[in-house]
Amino acid sequence: MPGIDSLTAALGGSLSGKRILVRSDLNVPLDGTTITDDGRIRASAPTIAALADAGARVVVVAHLGRPKGAPDAAYSLAPVAERLGEVLGRPVAFATDTVGDAASETVSGLADGDIALLENVRFNAGETSKDDAERGAFADQLAALADGFVSDGFGVVHRKQASVYDVAARLPHAMGNLVGTEIDVLRRLTDSPERPYAVVLGGSKVSDKLGVIDNLLGKADHLLIGGGMVFTFLAAQGLEVGKSLLEADQLDTCRDYLARAEKLGVTIMLPTDIVVDSAFPSGDRAPEPSVVAADAIPADSLGLDIGPDSAAAFAAALGKARTVFWNGPMGVFEVDAFAGGTRAVAQALTEVDGLSVVGGGDSAAAVRRLGFTDDAFGHISTGGGASLEYLEGKELPGISILED
Ligand code: 3PG
Repeated sequence: MPGIDSLTAALGGSLSGKRILVRSDLNVPLDGTTITDDGRIRASAPTIAALADAGARVVVVAHLGRPKGAPDAAYSLAPVAERLGEVLGRPVAFATDTVGDAASETVSGLADGDIALLENVRFNAGETSKDDAERGAFADQLAALADGFVSDGFGVVHRKQASVYDVAARLPHAMGNLVGTEIDVLRRLTDSPERPYAVVLGGSKVSDKLGVIDNLLGKADHLLIGGGMVFTFLAAQGLEVGKSLLEADQLDTCRDYLARAEKLGVTIMLPTDIVVDSAFPSGDRAPEPSVVAADAIPADSLGLDIGPDSAAAFAAALGKARTVFWNGPMGVFEVDAFAGGTRAVAQALTEVDGLSVVGGGDSAAAVRRLGFTDDAFGHISTGGGASLEYLEGKELPGISILED
């Protein structure tokens, strides 16, 4: 797959003076205009810096959130441009539109080695359009801003969107270092994982994880399940789950997974105790957590974390694994009273004698919020949906277009 060296060769042997469009994933969580986790910005910086050091005029294109195809100040990348400049330790010009006059003026103002960030690419309906012609027309405008394209937004490679997919078909292109590293790690998980291979899945919905569970039943040795999705599994075993999150339409699917796992000799570990409360945590009420057995969840309670016995059992299982992939928190980790399960799993991952991978924006933000540093893990992926789709065995449009 073409890397930056082959892009350099395709552009005449030097990037100096060449306008290089870089698709990064700078979709960071914000509280107002304050960035609460800058992991994706820090992960994107090395490729941008390397291109600028090679003399390129670097034009970064990225999205923030899911605006509705029109400008919306709440989703402006302006705070991200500022933080990117701080992380890079050099100025980042900010264009107030992705294409059009504001973008072309900003790009033509760049000298060799300069960097610009374009405003949220999703302010343009063409970016996410399902219509190939509409997406293509927008990709033409993006491509007109550059001489070459570097795909480095791993978190969006599962999206068939103009700045990820169509633009690569219009410009000499390369895979950026971040995407290259992510794919190498995920390949180690899928091709020849050292065993035992354990996968921890959490987060709220079983329905988001169907594909990955389906695929992993044939690959992993142990599946450890927590988070909101666990209650559908518990209910599938005939247990009462009170007011906990339940996807009634997935009960049969969960039963099928449990039966298949047994046949294949794959362990599905479910929590044996649960931290419950009478209501979902909210600002105006102090949490009143209590621990109950997983088969004794009171009718008027809802589960908000795996309990301490389960957290210890999960940690013990992970302690024996040589490869671990984790996606999705074990509970409502944002509230201390319900963060114990997520913290225990994160701690166990830092102690794995082998490869430990934290998959995804939310899980990555969770471990940082709980005070863990990035280097405590084998790898923290910048892509939640993208890494899950890779593990599902799906084709990722943003990768396959680079191979074509
Ligand atoms: C993510 O947050 O997973 C990526 O930035 C992709 O965002 P999206 O799900 O809105 O496409």
